[in-house]
Amino acid sequence: MKEFGLYIDGRWMPSSSGRSFKSINPATGETLATFPEGTGKDVERAVEAAFEAQASWKKFSAPGRGEILSKAAWIMRNRKDELGELVSREMGKVISEGKGDVQEAVDFLEYIAGEGRRMAGETTPSELPEKFCMTVRQPIGIVGLITPWNFPFAVPCWKLGPALVAGNSVVYKPATLTPLCAATFVRILEEAGLPQGVLNMVTGPAEEVGRAIVEHPGIRAVSFTGSLSSGKDVYTRAATGLKRVGLELGGKNPQIVMDDADISLAVEGALFGAFGTAGQRCTATSRLILHGAIYEETMERLVSRTRDLKIGDPVDPAVDVGPVCGEDQEKKILNYIEVGKKEGAHLIMGGQKMTGPRFDKGFFIAPTIFETRHGMRITKEEMFGPVLSVIKVQDYEEAIHVANDVEYGLSSSIYTRDIRTAHRAIDELEAGIVYINAPTIGAEVHLPFGGVKNTGIGTREAGSAAIEEFTEIKTVFIDYSGRLQKAQIQE
Ligand code: UN1
Repeated sequence: MKEFGLYIDGRWMPSSSGRSFKSINPATGETLATFPEGTGKDVERAVEAAFEAQASWKKFSAPGRGEILSKAAWIMRNRKDELGELVSREMGKVISEGKGDVQEAVDFLEYIAGEGRRMAGETTPSELPEKFCMTVRQPIGIVGLITPWNFPFAVPCWKLGPALVAGNSVVYKPATLTPLCAATFVRILEEAGLPQGVLNMVTGPAEEVGRAIVEHPGIRAVSFTGSLSSGKDVYTRAATGLKRVGLELGGKNPQIVMDDADISLAVEGALFGAFGTAGQRCTATSRLILHGAIYEETMERLVSRTRDLKIGDPVDPAVDVGPVCGEDQEKKILNYIEVGKKEGAHLIMGGQKMTGPRFDKGFFIAPTIFETRHGMRITKEEMFGPVLSVIKVQDYEEAIHVANDVEYGLSSSIYTRDIRTAHRAIDELEAGIVYINAPTIGAEVHLPFGGVKNTGIGTREAGSAAIEEFTEIKTVFIDYSGRLQKAQIQE
């Protein structure tokens, strides 16, 4: 078992609390590593280091900063199998998805490294002769990044990549459930040549470390991915300091299946969308909205395909669904299952914790399918687990109404063979992401990612929008006329 420190100013060091916490394999209960519980004082030290490093990092050329990220991508690509297994062991997703997490990080680092040679501003004509107008992008300064456990390499990359290439220095708090992946990534960036002090990682509880980051006056922007309730807390606290905030919060993502859909394609999509990563993606399909005409057939096929899923230790390549990530997750999901039963939802399959020698040391929940009525809590609230609520509708209009009638709007999907229905859905689904004939999960990193309504605020992550979150725009006017020219004033 490894013991880690906080990473501040290029050194691993103990926390001022003297306390530590463990990273635990959610499939086996094995302790993987221990990490210090950071404090507000540690965040203070991290901000000081970030401040010291800022001036020279800002001056480091942007293509040079991009090269460090490219090198990190190269290192990760070479270590993909080992890192994928680490994700699997620490977070619990199956090994193929663990490698996918690493691949997504590699893809995005490669993409965003190129931003070092773009970082585009604009040039425009002036109202006045012999005057030149343009914008340039500059770093914000010190940014605070708070990341979730469900994509322990990919999502931190979405934030760290653009923050670093833009020339910011960073105070980073990874999720307490997956600190080993975070520390491994920090070491990779160090090996790739990131100067000391540019990235500082403080592990520890959200109430202490997260809060100190959000409230520290030296940190000008905060990017957070997590639950709606934590996001509201981040937003409120950051508002007092007038900080820029980027929030990626929950989802209650619908997959609609119309009466003209390819049913087996739709069933495979729902299976992957709902039970992939044991439902622990913000993009997971948690509602399956079925047209009445294909309801029975789709349900029959779905139930039979779900029965085939193999549950177990996620490092076993034959396993389809791993554990959920820890005791709190497990409790929350089991509690929602009880809520569903009490509300009168019809439990079709699953609905309980898995028991037996292969499961007893971990946190395994059987893939669960409920027949529900729209409006029940389990059709509206995010569970973040392998639970699918199925809702029957009569027509397209009702399908769209049900799909949109939730507080979230991240991902969405419709299966139809009709081009008009598909295009109407693109127009009418209230979501940041729409899939046609594909599941709600699996967004590609060179396109913007994020949602509407209570799913988040701020600019999109990933894709061409990624750089927005971490840059200030400076507008520049160059008057080369040699005389005083007055804009807007006619004399
Ligand atoms: C998340 O769940 O926080 O679109 C991110 C997807 C992945 C990213 C999910 N590419 O499912």
